[in-house]
Amino acid sequence: MKILVTGGAGYIGSHTVVELQNEGYDVVVIDNLSNSCEKSIERVEKITGKKVPFYKCDILDREKLSEIMDKENFDACIHFAGLKAVGESVQKPWEYYENNIAGTLTLVDVMRKHNVKNIIFSSSATIYGDPAFIPITEECPKGVCTNPYGWTKSMLEQVLTDIQKADPEWNVILLRYFNPIGAHKSGTIGENPNGIPNNLMPYITQTAVGKRDHLTIFGNDYDTHDGTGVRDYIHVVDLARGHVKALAKIKEKAGLKIYNLGTGTGYSVLDIVKNFEEATGVKVPYEIGPRRPGDIATCYASAKKAYDELGWKAEYGIKEMCADSWNWQKNNPNGYED
Ligand code: NAD
Ligand code: UFG
Repeated sequence: MKILVTGGAGYIGSHTVVELQNEGYDVVVIDNLSNSCEKSIERVEKITGKKVPFYKCDILDREKLSEIMDKENFDACIHFAGLKAVGESVQKPWEYYENNIAGTLTLVDVMRKHNVKNIIFSSSATIYGDPAFIPITEECPKGVCTNPYGWTKSMLEQVLTDIQKADPEWNVILLRYFNPIGAHKSGTIGENPNGIPNNLMPYITQTAVGKRDHLTIFGNDYDTHDGTGVRDYIHVVDLARGHVKALAKIKEKAGLKIYNLGTGTGYSVLDIVKNFEEATGVKVPYEIGPRRPGDIATCYASAKKAYDELGWKAEYGIKEMCADSWNWQKNNPNGYED
């Protein structure tokens, strides 16, 4: 099976390419490198010992996409390409709607013209808004998103659902990720945020390596066991393997399917700091600050459906997630620039 991986030079994409190649899939990556660099692809090649065919291509570029699809005979697409910075999306909503929505519409149109009607889409727990219940099952109603990034995911889920309904030849799998952290065991690929990290784990690792002075914990007055926000952190390699399992569903011609990819366990910010310190022996200085606008108290998955239907569950625990995040950061203090 030949798989087109959009956004395959990025954090989750690069880890998924490793797992796909390890399972014997033919993989072709396209990426416009707006939030990544080709070095990640070279490092994936080192890990797997296989070539990763790569095209620098924007998913908005209809002509180039068509040329690539004329040349390569894809069976399915795993679609990671997109902009993902929550705060930036509030400042630049047009750019987010254009890139994520118009980009996906273009991609899907070129796919159907080439009779490639299998897609796995990177969605997010953010579509549940402030979730109606916890743990969050796939039946939990979609909620009100607090930023344009979240709306792009929510809207694209609807777009892909409607396309599948109108043409049952499509197989569409929506994967709702919880909070990916960690890195490949080799410590050679990992998350490489631009500028000051928005997300907790890269902020912690950059503090631990001395690039940031201290971590600010956004609020300790939530209704959680210690007052800090609770999330479902999942090792990126487990997440990547979830995509390999989802491909098996595509082969079964399953129509439209939706799965949460999380561990089913919630950890608070203070739990993460403690686990990081225990796993690495490195102190993380922190201060308590005000709540971050748009944050919710608690968000963790029911991972049952993915287990029952895909035979997938997360294998790595929180200590390993912390240790692997740190291994990547300390070996590459400046990310792929090292
Ligand atoms: P990332 O930024 O590391 O990877 C996304 C890749 O897409 C980058 O390499 C970027 O250069 C590329 N890209 C962006 N716009 C493009 C375009 N128009 N054409 C071609 N390539 C383009 O992000 P990631 O963390 O690996 O996330 C992958 C996907 O998963 C994204 O769709 C993201 O929204 C989604 N997601 C991520 C998280 C998370 O916390 N990391 C959580 C839920 C969902
Ligand atoms: N946090 C801090 N300090 C920081 C950064 C984060 O205290 O410097 C806290 C947040 O308040 C939250 C927790 O750490 O309680 C996790 O925050 P992240 O920013 O790492 O993750 P979010 O849960 O806010 O959101 C992330 C992605 C979204 C995605 C969502 C899926 O940023 O794009 O996970 O669950 F949709």
